[in-house]
This record gives sequence, structure tokens and C-alpha cells, in this order.
Amino acid sequence: MRIVVLGAPGAGKGTQARLLRNKLGIPHVSTGDIFRGNIAEGTELGNKVKDYLHRGELVPDKLTNDLVADRLSRPDCRDGFLLDGFPRTITQARFLDSIMEKNGTPLRHALNIKVSDEKIIKRLSSRRVCTSCGRNSQVNEKSCGENTVCEICGGIVAQRPDDDEKTVAERLRIYHEQTEPLIEYYEMQGKLIEIEGSGEIEEIFESILSGLGVE
Ligand code: AP5
Ligand code: MG
Repeated sequence: MRIVVLGAPGAGKGTQARLLRNKLGIPHVSTGDIFRGNIAEGTELGNKVKDYLHRGELVPDKLTNDLVADRLSRPDCRDGFLLDGFPRTITQARFLDSIMEKNGTPLRHALNIKVSDEKIIKRLSSRRVCTSCGRNSQVNEKSCGENTVCEICGGIVAQRPDDDEKTVAERLRIYHEQTEPLIEYYEMQGKLIEIEGSGEIEEIFESILSGLGVE
């Protein structure tokens, strides 16, 4: 299955994509994770995109499209993939369609995880992330406050640099302006599956599976 996962920052795209990856056995491709990995390693790509991520702005389409084209051309994506955080603009969506058309492997579904801005601001302000294994946690969990050590891998747990209040507001503004129009784009193609994303993680996952027609 070839699936894109849409939703505002903090809607739960990564959380649900990881569960789906385990269920469906297809790779989870997150452009945000790839960019952050490159920033952490200090690669040339990381240096190019660092300021965009820290300001909560989108990385230019050309750079992002090239990265995704390269990733999707690898053998593990041949039989399907889950794209998390891509496309984020109409230009990127058209580019993805053009790759899929060229390969004769159309995109099957676009999942849209819906959560209110108010809830997102709450979730992201209390999120902490392990800088080694990437595990997400909330600050109200006893073991996962700031400057703590990850209980899974022993890495340092910190706030994501773009999760401060001002940057979250900017990410949401850009989402509504540039990414939200993709909902209509995929609806017109008959690929859209709307998912209510404000409940419990397991509950949301169940509605995604039923939306996809997966047992
Ligand atoms: P990216 O990494 O994609 O970040 P994002 O979309 O802003 O959102 P998050 O990853 O913060 O949220 P998510 O929806 O994955 O939710 P999560 O599951 O983590 O992009 C980062 C940056 O990279 C962009 O700003 C841009 O600069 C650049 N970029 C990336 N792709 C790009 C592109 N295509 N074009 C241009 N630039 C691009 O959940 C969030 C939190 O909520 C977690 O703590 C989680 O535990 C919790 N949570 C999840 N589900 C629930 C639930 N049901 N109930 C309670 N808590 C929950
Ligand atoms: Mg994510």
C-alpha cells in the first residue's frame, strides 16, 4: 500500500505511522525525521535545512522533493510506503503524483488526522523527545521531565527545538496556509480518509485500520 499521512504538526502522524509500519510491514518515511537525523549528524543537507526547521518554516520544495524521490527509489519502498509529513504543499503533491505515475504505482490513500489547534498547542508544549532513540513522552509523565534520561536507551530527553510556543504557532500558521489545501486535493482524487485524531492512540489506530480496510 502507498499511503500519505496528512495532519497538522502534533496531530499524531508519527505516532500512528509507526504503529501502521509495524502492522503493514512497509517503511515509514518521515521527511522531518530525515531532516533531524541529518542535522544531528552535521551533514551538508543538515546544514542546509537547519534554520528552516528551527524557525518552523518549510524547507524549499526542490530540496524536499529531491530527497523524497531518492528515498522512494530504494528497494524497500518498491511494494509500498507510508509518507509522514510529505507532501506539505500542492507543488510537492503534484511532484509525488508525477513520480507515482512514471512508476505506474499510484498512491492509494491519503489519511488526514484531524486535531484542533488548541489540543495541538497543549500536546507539543509538553512533549519531550529522547535525543538518541527519538522516543516521545509528555512532561507530566513522572520519568520524562526536562533534563531527564531516557528510560529506554539512557539518552538525554529534551524539548524539540521547534516545540516552543512561538515556533509551534508559526508551524500551525504555515500548516493552515500551505498544507491544509491538500485535503481538498486528495478528496478530489477520491483518496482521502478522514480520521478523528483527538482520542486515545489505540482508538485512533483502530479507526485508521478500518478506514484502510485492514483487518
Ligand atoms: P515534522 O517532523 O514532520 O513535524 P510536524 O509535522 O510539525 O509534526 P510533529 O512531528 O511534531 O507531529 P506529528 O504529527 O508527527 O505527531 P506525533 O506523533 O509526534 O516536520 C518538522 C519540520 O521539518 C517542519 O516544520 C519543516 O521545517 C520540515 N519539513 C518536514 N517535512 C517537510 C516537507 N514535506 N516540506 C518542507 N519542510 C518539511 O505526536 C505529537 C505529540 O503528541 C507526541 O508527544 C505524542 O506522544 C503525542 N500524541 C500523539 N497522539 C496522541 C494522542 N492521540 N493523544 C495524546 N497525545 C498524543
Ligand atoms: Mg512527526
